[in-house]
Amino acid sequence: MSFHREEPKDFAFSTENLAKAKSIVAKYPEGKSRSAVMPLLDLAQRQIGGWLPRIAMDYVAQYLGLDPIKVYEVANFYTMYNKKPVGENHVQVCTNLPCWLRGSDQVVSACKKTLGIGIGETTQDGKFTLSEVECAGACVNAPVAAINDDYFEDLDEASITRVLEAIKKGEKPKLGPQNGRMNSAPIGGPTTLKGEG
Ligand code: FES
Repeated sequence: MSFHREEPKDFAFSTENLAKAKSIVAKYPEGKSRSAVMPLLDLAQRQIGGWLPRIAMDYVAQYLGLDPIKVYEVANFYTMYNKKPVGENHVQVCTNLPCWLRGSDQVVSACKKTLGIGIGETTQDGKFTLSEVECAGACVNAPVAAINDDYFEDLDEASITRVLEAIKKGEKPKLGPQNGRMNSAPIGGPTTLKGEG
């Protein structure tokens, strides 16, 4: 994997993010600002471009008056915090049980084939990183993949390939279910409560 991104030498919230951080902390009661650690880590990760170097965790710890270890514990527990740089599009395929039963193995292999990388790798141009994640919280539409903040659901080999090819071309693929159903409704439309009486 030749993808490489320099670790920043220092970190501080931008003016805009400082204002956001202030309003996040204000949501919590006096003396409970440590509860803001998760949204502040997310804010730092977004500002850096998708990952959290240690210097950013230390900054958040200092901002909230916490021991750095308390912040590392949170950042290491949750998989949404990336401790290594990721590509512009972070493709996170859920391979937990419901998604696996519905064909996530085929979705993963289609991603590997289309992107030319394995799990945990980033394309040479830095455009895509492929990861495997546990439940993405959308099992009713399994199998599921999240690409940055967007969810693609009811996937199969053909539809995830279409989605990735569209992103490669700079297009915006259709979000949500890829099999024609609306949200998590039955594919053929409603089956009950169809009439008035
Ligand atoms: S198991 Fe894949 S979304 Fe829950």
